[in-house]
Amino acid sequence: MFGVMALGALVLSPPVFAAGSGAAKMEPANNVLGNVRSLQRGARNFVNYCMGCHSAKYVRYNRLADDLQLSEQQVTDNLMFVGEKLLDTMDIAMDPLDAGRWFGQVPPDLSLIARAKGTDYVFNYLKGFYLDPDRRNGTDNLFLPGASMPHVLWELQGLQKPVYEAIIDANGDVHKIMAGFEQVTEGLLNTEEYDQFVRDLTNFLEYISEPVKLERQKLGVRVLLFLLVFFLFSYLLKQEYWKDIK
Ligand code: HEC
Repeated sequence: MFGVMALGALVLSPPVFAAGSGAAKMEPANNVLGNVRSLQRGARNFVNYCMGCHSAKYVRYNRLADDLQLSEQQVTDNLMFVGEKLLDTMDIAMDPLDAGRWFGQVPPDLSLIARAKGTDYVFNYLKGFYLDPDRRNGTDNLFLPGASMPHVLWELQGLQKPVYEAIIDANGDVHKIMAGFEQVTEGLLNTEEYDQFVRDLTNFLEYISEPVKLERQKLGVRVLLFLLVFFLFSYLLKQEYWKDIK
């Protein structure tokens, strides 16, 4: 009972800040690639909240339909912009030069981001925006200091501000380090719902970074099942061959 409660506290606690070093620890993303419903939600979140700025130009819509077990009609209605075709890739219309001017950085294509930086990073990055009045867009990110991406999910997560703690080092100098976040405005989602929203997005980004992984996992299970059945038959066969030779 207490074990369960302790675990609950662990899961629900705000980001853990490594004492002293100033570097924040990452929570595990815990996304499950084989969870097709989560991938479907992640795709929807990606189209609605990210494709204003980011493309995923190695992903074709018809492939999404197959892998995410959606009908072509569902993909057309929910995941595609007007005028796009199923054979198109998830590209966007933004001119990189404009994007550079607006944000200071061109929003990168996200096809491979989960493989490049890891799912835990993506998950924590999307939870790590906090208010910083010194920044042009009003926020910074704990995991990408100086990030030029605005906190596009602020309505869902709400806004959080850092809480600082003073520490004294060996020389007696006082340093201000970030000790955690404090919620300033409530979001439309509570903490668990927001985590799930971001986990689904992370799951989708992992899937698009290596679509064959999904197939490989399914194939792996089939191969194991085959081996199991094969073993059974070879065992029975062996019994049959040896039954007279005792
Ligand atoms: C308003 C434009 C905009 C929107 C919308 C947007 N981003 Fe970004 N994003 C950026 C910019 C600009 C950068 C480059 C940040 C930098 O390098 O400072 C970026 C960078 C990133 C990165 C890379 C971070 C890194 O470590 O290099 C990830 C991951 C990312 N965005 C995920 C998302 C996701 C997921 C969504 C949807 C929920 C999203 N973004 C929506 C503008 C946007």
